[in-house]
Amino acid sequence: LFAGQSEFVKGVVAMSGLPPADRIEVCFAGRSNVGKSSLINALTGTKGLARASNTPGRTQEINYFTQGPDLYLVDLPGYGYANAPLKIVEKWQKLLKQYLSGRQTLRRAFVLIDARHGVKAVDDEIMKLLDTSAVTFQCVLTKADKVKAAEREKVLAQVRGALARHPAAFPEIVLTSSEKGDGIPTLRSIIAHLV
Ligand code: GTP
Ligand code: MG
Repeated sequence: LFAGQSEFVKGVVAMSGLPPADRIEVCFAGRSNVGKSSLINALTGTKGLARASNTPGRTQEINYFTQGPDLYLVDLPGYGYANAPLKIVEKWQKLLKQYLSGRQTLRRAFVLIDARHGVKAVDDEIMKLLDTSAVTFQCVLTKADKVKAAEREKVLAQVRGALARHPAAFPEIVLTSSEKGDGIPTLRSIIAHLV
Protein backbone atom coordinates (compact mmCIF):
# COMPACT_ATOMS: atom_id res chain seq x y z
CA LEU A 1 0.00 0.00 0.00
CA PHE A 2 2.73 2.47 0.96
CA ALA A 3 4.95 1.50 -1.93
CA GLY A 4 2.91 3.62 -4.33
CA GLN A 5 2.92 7.31 -5.02
CA SER A 6 1.30 9.79 -2.76
CA GLU A 7 -0.16 13.03 -4.05
CA PHE A 8 -1.71 16.17 -2.67
CA VAL A 9 -5.38 16.36 -3.65
CA LYS A 10 -6.76 19.53 -2.11
CA GLY A 11 -7.07 21.72 0.94
CA VAL A 12 -10.57 22.02 2.30
CA VAL A 13 -12.00 24.85 4.39
CA ALA A 14 -15.65 23.77 4.55
CA MET A 15 -17.51 20.46 4.61
CA SER A 16 -18.93 21.24 1.16
CA GLY A 17 -15.39 21.16 -0.23
CA LEU A 18 -14.59 17.59 0.83
CA PRO A 19 -13.62 15.29 -2.05
CA PRO A 20 -16.17 12.63 -3.05
CA ALA A 21 -16.42 9.91 -0.40
CA ASP A 22 -15.26 7.28 -2.87
CA ARG A 23 -12.56 5.57 -0.80
CA ILE A 24 -11.74 5.12 2.84
CA GLU A 25 -9.65 7.62 4.75
CA VAL A 26 -7.71 7.96 7.97
CA CYS A 27 -7.00 11.31 9.57
CA PHE A 28 -4.32 12.76 11.79
CA ALA A 29 -5.48 15.04 14.57
CA GLY A 30 -3.53 16.64 17.39
CA ARG A 31 -2.35 19.80 19.02
CA SER A 32 -0.57 22.35 16.95
CA ASN A 33 3.05 21.42 16.31
CA VAL A 34 2.67 17.83 17.56
CA GLY A 35 3.98 16.49 14.23
CA LYS A 36 0.94 15.60 12.09
CA SER A 37 2.32 16.83 8.78
CA SER A 38 5.75 15.33 9.51
CA LEU A 39 4.12 11.97 10.23
CA ILE A 40 2.32 12.00 6.88
CA ASN A 41 5.61 12.74 5.16
CA ALA A 42 7.29 9.87 7.02
CA LEU A 43 4.45 7.43 6.25
CA THR A 44 4.42 8.26 2.57
CA GLY A 45 8.18 8.55 2.37
CA THR A 46 7.76 11.89 0.61
CA LYS A 47 9.60 14.81 2.16
CA GLY A 48 7.72 18.09 1.76
CA LEU A 49 4.42 16.46 0.73
CA ALA A 50 2.62 17.87 3.74
CA ARG A 51 3.98 21.23 4.85
CA ALA A 52 5.65 20.86 8.22
CA SER A 53 7.03 23.78 10.14
CA ASN A 54 8.19 24.96 13.49
CA THR A 55 5.52 27.67 13.42
CA PRO A 56 2.45 26.32 15.24
CA GLY A 57 -0.74 26.62 13.22
CA ARG A 58 1.00 25.84 9.92
CA THR A 59 -1.75 23.58 8.58
CA GLN A 60 -4.93 25.65 8.38
CA GLU A 61 -7.05 23.52 6.09
CA ILE A 62 -8.08 19.89 5.95
CA ASN A 63 -5.47 18.61 3.53
CA TYR A 64 -6.15 15.50 1.48
CA PHE A 65 -3.42 13.21 0.15
CA THR A 66 -3.86 10.03 -1.82
CA GLN A 67 -1.95 6.91 -0.88
CA GLY A 68 -2.43 4.48 -3.73
CA PRO A 69 -5.88 4.20 -5.38
CA ASP A 70 -7.88 3.17 -2.31
CA LEU A 71 -6.92 5.49 0.51
CA TYR A 72 -6.82 9.11 1.56
CA LEU A 73 -4.50 10.37 4.29
CA VAL A 74 -6.01 13.47 5.87
CA ASP A 75 -3.91 16.13 7.59
CA LEU A 76 -5.99 18.21 10.00
CA PRO A 77 -5.37 21.70 11.33
CA GLY A 78 -3.90 21.57 14.81
CA TYR A 79 -5.98 22.50 17.83
CA GLY A 80 -4.99 24.25 21.03
CA TYR A 81 -2.95 26.93 19.30
CA ALA A 82 -3.16 29.85 21.70
CA ASN A 83 -1.76 32.58 19.46
CA ALA A 84 -4.20 32.38 16.54
CA PRO A 85 -6.98 34.98 16.41
CA LEU A 86 -10.11 33.75 18.18
CA LYS A 87 -12.33 34.05 15.09
CA ILE A 88 -10.01 31.76 13.13
CA VAL A 89 -9.68 29.26 15.98
CA GLU A 90 -13.46 29.05 16.24
CA LYS A 91 -13.78 28.47 12.51
CA TRP A 92 -11.20 25.64 12.58
CA GLN A 93 -12.76 24.03 15.64
CA LYS A 94 -16.18 24.05 14.02
CA LEU A 95 -14.86 22.46 10.82
CA LEU A 96 -12.83 19.91 12.78
CA LYS A 97 -15.89 18.88 14.78
CA GLN A 98 -18.06 18.65 11.68
CA TYR A 99 -15.44 16.57 9.94
CA LEU A 100 -14.74 14.18 12.82
CA SER A 101 -18.39 13.47 13.46
CA GLY A 102 -19.74 13.61 9.93
CA ARG A 103 -17.40 11.89 7.46
CA GLN A 104 -18.83 8.52 6.44
CA THR A 105 -15.66 7.11 4.93
CA LEU A 106 -13.42 8.00 7.88
CA ARG A 107 -12.18 4.63 9.13
CA ARG A 108 -9.92 5.72 11.98
CA ALA A 109 -8.75 8.95 13.55
CA PHE A 110 -5.20 8.98 14.81
CA VAL A 111 -4.83 11.33 17.74
CA LEU A 112 -1.23 12.43 18.00
CA ILE A 113 0.25 13.09 21.41
CA ASP A 114 3.72 14.51 22.01
CA ALA A 115 5.76 11.80 23.78
CA ARG A 116 7.21 14.47 26.06
CA HIS A 117 3.91 15.99 27.13
CA GLY A 118 1.20 13.32 27.31
CA VAL A 119 -2.55 13.92 27.04
CA LYS A 120 -3.62 17.52 27.72
CA ALA A 121 -7.11 18.89 28.38
CA VAL A 122 -7.61 19.84 24.71
CA ASP A 123 -6.72 16.28 23.64
CA ASP A 124 -9.29 14.98 26.07
CA GLU A 125 -11.89 17.27 24.48
CA ILE A 126 -11.20 15.83 21.02
CA MET A 127 -11.34 12.29 22.41
CA LYS A 128 -14.73 13.09 23.96
CA LEU A 129 -15.92 14.31 20.59
CA LEU A 130 -14.68 11.11 18.97
CA ASP A 131 -16.47 9.03 21.61
CA THR A 132 -19.74 10.49 20.37
CA SER A 133 -18.99 10.04 16.66
CA ALA A 134 -18.98 6.68 14.94
CA VAL A 135 -15.23 6.45 14.49
CA THR A 136 -12.60 4.60 16.54
CA PHE A 137 -9.54 6.58 17.43
CA GLN A 138 -6.00 5.48 18.17
CA CYS A 139 -3.21 7.33 19.93
CA VAL A 140 0.14 7.88 18.28
CA LEU A 141 2.96 9.25 20.40
CA THR A 142 5.20 11.53 18.35
CA LYS A 143 8.79 12.76 18.68
CA ALA A 144 9.86 9.57 20.47
CA ASP A 145 13.45 10.51 19.65
CA LYS A 146 13.17 13.40 22.11
CA VAL A 147 12.49 11.33 25.25
CA LYS A 148 14.54 8.94 27.34
CA ALA A 149 13.13 5.52 28.26
CA ALA A 150 12.09 6.41 31.83
CA GLU A 151 10.19 9.53 30.77
CA ARG A 152 8.58 7.63 27.91
CA GLU A 153 7.23 4.99 30.30
CA LYS A 154 5.77 7.69 32.52
CA VAL A 155 4.01 9.37 29.61
CA LEU A 156 2.79 6.02 28.25
CA ALA A 157 1.19 5.25 31.61
CA GLN A 158 -0.49 8.67 31.64
CA VAL A 159 -1.82 8.14 28.11
CA ARG A 160 -3.09 4.65 28.97
CA GLY A 161 -4.93 6.12 31.94
CA ALA A 162 -6.51 8.78 29.76
CA LEU A 163 -7.55 6.26 27.07
CA ALA A 164 -9.26 4.08 29.66
CA ARG A 165 -11.84 6.85 30.08
CA HIS A 166 -12.75 6.87 26.38
CA PRO A 167 -14.96 4.12 24.97
CA ALA A 168 -14.00 4.92 21.35
CA ALA A 169 -10.27 4.52 22.01
CA PHE A 170 -8.41 1.64 20.41
CA PRO A 171 -6.11 0.31 23.15
CA GLU A 172 -2.84 -0.03 21.22
CA ILE A 173 -0.62 3.05 21.42
CA VAL A 174 1.93 3.54 18.63
CA LEU A 175 5.24 5.17 19.49
CA THR A 176 6.76 7.02 16.54
CA SER A 177 9.56 9.28 15.42
CA SER A 178 9.16 10.89 12.04
CA GLU A 179 12.75 12.02 12.34
CA LYS A 180 14.28 8.59 13.03
CA GLY A 181 11.61 6.36 11.50
CA ASP A 182 10.64 4.50 14.68
CA GLY A 183 7.13 3.06 14.55
CA ILE A 184 6.54 4.09 10.94
CA PRO A 185 6.38 0.49 9.58
CA THR A 186 4.00 -0.42 12.43
CA LEU A 187 1.70 2.47 11.65
CA ARG A 188 1.77 1.69 7.93
CA SER A 189 0.73 -1.86 8.68
CA ILE A 190 -2.10 -0.73 10.98
CA ILE A 191 -3.40 1.55 8.22
CA ALA A 192 -3.00 -1.12 5.54
CA HIS A 193 -5.21 -3.44 7.58
CA LEU A 194 -7.98 -0.84 7.61
CA VAL A 195 -8.16 -0.65 3.82
P1 GTP B 1 0.41 22.26 12.72
O1 GTP B 1 0.20 22.07 11.25
O2 GTP B 1 0.89 23.62 13.08
O3 GTP B 1 -0.76 21.85 13.54
O4 GTP B 1 1.67 21.32 13.18
P2 GTP B 1 1.91 19.76 12.86
O5 GTP B 1 1.26 18.94 13.92
O6 GTP B 1 1.59 19.43 11.45
O7 GTP B 1 3.49 19.65 13.13
P3 GTP B 1 4.68 19.56 12.05
O8 GTP B 1 4.67 18.25 11.37
O9 GTP B 1 4.65 20.79 11.23
O10 GTP B 1 5.95 19.54 13.01
C1 GTP B 1 6.20 20.56 13.96
C2 GTP B 1 7.68 20.58 14.31
O11 GTP B 1 8.04 19.37 14.99
C3 GTP B 1 8.60 20.67 13.09
O12 GTP B 1 9.66 21.51 13.42
C4 GTP B 1 9.06 19.23 12.89
O13 GTP B 1 10.32 19.14 12.28
C5 GTP B 1 9.12 18.72 14.33
N1 GTP B 1 8.92 17.25 14.39
C6 GTP B 1 7.87 16.57 13.89
N2 GTP B 1 8.01 15.24 14.11
C7 GTP B 1 9.18 15.08 14.78
C8 GTP B 1 9.89 13.93 15.30
O14 GTP B 1 9.47 12.77 15.19
N3 GTP B 1 11.05 14.17 15.94
C9 GTP B 1 11.55 15.44 16.11
N4 GTP B 1 12.70 15.56 16.78
N5 GTP B 1 10.93 16.52 15.62
C10 GTP B 1 9.75 16.36 14.97
MG1 MG C 1 0.65 20.52 10.00
